[in-house]
Amino acid sequence: MSSIPAPTLPNTPFRFVLHFVSFYLPGVLACLVFETGQSLCNILLPWAIRHIMDAVNGALAAKAAVWPAVAPALWLFAGLSLGIVLASRASGTVLVLLGPALRRRIRRDLFAYLQHHSQRYFLGNFAGSLANRIAETSMGSAQVLWTMLFDFWPLIVSFTASLLVLAEVDHGLAAVLGAWVTGYVSISFLLSLRARRYARDYAAARSLVSGKIVDSVTNIMNAKLFARRDFERDYLEGFLDFEVGRARRVFWFMEAIRWFQFSAAMLLILGMVAYAIDLWSRGVMTAGEFAMAASLSLLLIEQARGLSRKFLDFFEYLGNVSDGVGMIVRPHEVLDGADAQPLRVTHGAIAIEALDFAYLDTRPVFAGLNLHIPGGQKVGFVGYSGSGKSTLLNLLLRLYEPQRGQILIDGQAIASATQESLRQQIAMIPQDPMLFHRSLLENIRYGRLDATDDEVIAAARQAHAHEFILETEDGYQSLVGERGVKLSGGQRQRIALARAIVKNAPILLLDEATSALDSVTERHIQDSLAQLMQGKTVLVIAHRLSTLARLDRIVVFHHGAIIEDGSPAELLARNGHYARMWAMQAGGFLPEDEAAAVETVA
Ligand SMILES: Nc1ncnc2c1ncn2[C@@H]1O[C@H](COP(=O)(O)OP(=O)(O)O)[C@@H](O)[C@H]1O
Ligand SMILES: [Mg+2]
Repeated sequence: MSSIPAPTLPNTPFRFVLHFVSFYLPGVLACLVFETGQSLCNILLPWAIRHIMDAVNGALAAKAAVWPAVAPALWLFAGLSLGIVLASRASGTVLVLLGPALRRRIRRDLFAYLQHHSQRYFLGNFAGSLANRIAETSMGSAQVLWTMLFDFWPLIVSFTASLLVLAEVDHGLAAVLGAWVTGYVSISFLLSLRARRYARDYAAARSLVSGKIVDSVTNIMNAKLFARRDFERDYLEGFLDFEVGRARRVFWFMEAIRWFQFSAAMLLILGMVAYAIDLWSRGVMTAGEFAMAASLSLLLIEQARGLSRKFLDFFEYLGNVSDGVGMIVRPHEVLDGADAQPLRVTHGAIAIEALDFAYLDTRPVFAGLNLHIPGGQKVGFVGYSGSGKSTLLNLLLRLYEPQRGQILIDGQAIASATQESLRQQIAMIPQDPMLFHRSLLENIRYGRLDATDDEVIAAARQAHAHEFILETEDGYQSLVGERGVKLSGGQRQRIALARAIVKNAPILLLDEATSALDSVTERHIQDSLAQLMQGKTVLVIAHRLSTLARLDRIVVFHHGAIIEDGSPAELLARNGHYARMWAMQAGGFLPEDEAAAVETVA
């Protein structure tokens, strides 16, 4: 079974939005056409009024019938009005169809991209904030597009059309408007750049206050215990004042922008009217043309009023997209090669050759590690905490790439196999298994999606999970809370065991998989485990002597190096590290670290 590769996504906000627009080009173009139509109809209304007035005046002057004379212009007026209705609703319809689909696509692709990130990436980024980023990026991308389509573009159309219509009457009039538009747009843009800085400061102050409140509520117990309720309130007061300062600064600035806009509007309308009256009085212009110039100015002023605010919003949306893209659309760390082959496991032999690995450059975990495990062998990894046992399992699963050396399974380098095929052949039971907030049935079936209900239940029985599952409220349909918090550690381990039984992969990895079980349950499970291990290559990290004694071979790790390797009996006879740990055992467990070991002896 092959898996779909990660989608290719642009990593700059503008190209990111354009990338998704390209999937919906017909819809976006339709919106563009409808918005153009609507703006044209709107801005041509004054033009129709001009013709109506001139027709009426002409008819009156010629003492002819008014209605027939005015009819064509009136039809034009009615047509334009109807055009506004139809074009705007057509555009609205496309938006209803397009908007949700666009956001869905962005979310889906961002999620698919995210899925291919490495273990390291997910350890460094919180799940909640990643989910938020996906939501905000899809929303922001849509808003960037809408602002361009429904705010900026209609304004461009309106300005251009007005200039053309006015130029037909008088070039000077068009020149005045053109100069005004250029000045107005540039100044609005510059002002909004400045306002953006203030708006960001204000947003930062708001989230600072929220953070302080969260911290205070989290520590409400401390405030109660130390009778510091008033203190906490006063403490918050200072941050609230700070927020007020920041808020006033951005609001004052917006107010200043409005002064600019209202004054500019006043200048435009006064200038246009004065200029037009002059033309009119000199007989260069008709009454209708005068009315058109005046109402065009009014219409434009109306449309252009919120321009700074729109620039500001636009920057914010673009900023959201930029943040999300920066966080999610990074290069993937662990990639399938172009010629990656599905891994074929026949015996399950594992060879680790000259392996160098470090999570961080400064502290190597392994240097030149070699280990050969024949197919079907059951090997125990033993060593103090931090000696690299879990890391080796991580590398085997290719959750990280080694810096040097290679791991082979049945002679095939896992680095040149597809990650999916590798992980399909390996069942892993981690020390602290996570469960989905889905039913227990679904959680167990996750091991093999086509397992029947009976197979799931049989696996649960084998893992000694069946009994406690039946005791839960909804049995196999019970939900287990986020990450499985409603179950105890031991119960989660048993669900994870059942899941591994269902998966039935040829290679089995257990990372202290029974550590959270009480010794009675553990003893029951040993038999099931022995059954599960049959015919498989098994790597077990364990501290329990009862687990270790049953294995073919024990490998002892110390600071990332293998210091002993042999059958349990051999190692005991050798009287080395393992034998010492054995001697220091407490309650059937090997010591977890040197301090504990010494303590046991003392
Ligand atoms: N995700 C990680 N990032 C950085 N260092 C890690 C990470 N996981 C483990 N380590 C370090 O790698 C070393 C080996 O850890 P690990 O393999 O978990 O040990 P063990 O399973 O034997 O207790 C330890 O020094 C540990 O601190
Ligand atoms: Mg470990």
